[in-house]
Amino acid sequence: MTKRGKFITVEGVDGAGKSTQFEVIANALKERGIDFVRTREPGGPQSAEKIRELLLNEPMTAKCELLVMFAARQENLTKIIRPALEAGKWVLCDRFTDASVAYQGYGRGRSLEEIEMLANFVHPDIKPDKTVIFDLPTEVAAARLSRKL
Ligand SMILES: Nc1ncnc2c1ncn2[C@@H]1O[C@H](COP(=O)(O)OP(=O)(O)O)[C@@H](O)[C@H]1O
Ligand SMILES: [Mg+2]
Repeated sequence: MTKRGKFITVEGVDGAGKSTQFEVIANALKERGIDFVRTREPGGPQSAEKIRELLLNEPMTAKCELLVMFAARQENLTKIIRPALEAGKWVLCDRFTDASVAYQGYGRGRSLEEIEMLANFVHPDIKPDKTVIFDLPTEVAAARLSRKL
């Protein structure tokens, strides 16, 4: 039986440095000859990328946003994450369910119980093997995004 791959996620606000370090991790895996796939949230497969467009462009209630995030996550898991892990590949994912805790939970006021319930519904079998969290003062992230630093 093929050994299941490792599931690595990166988390942090926009401007924290996720994409930058994502490349560093990807290169480290390549150097070691580890086969991996990369994906992101919301997004990944075409269906979830379309949901991403909706999430980024259409104002919606916090409850709808939470459900739609998990709908996109369901697609990413079914079409990219689970098949890769089962084939023994590693998966690098730019944000995952921790981002729902931050954005839909603390950001938009949905309860952590709801998020846990949806996580148990959508991925009872999967949690990241390693999550790299980029934490920095919001003004530094904002300055980076506006290229002041
Ligand atoms: N450690 C760092 N120090 C200073 N600037 C950084 C650092 N890491 C990334 N940046 C810059 O900050 C900006 C946002 O980085 P990025 O990796 O795109 O963040 P994210 O993907 O989390 O939004 C980019 O311009 C990037 O070059
Ligand atoms: Mg990024």
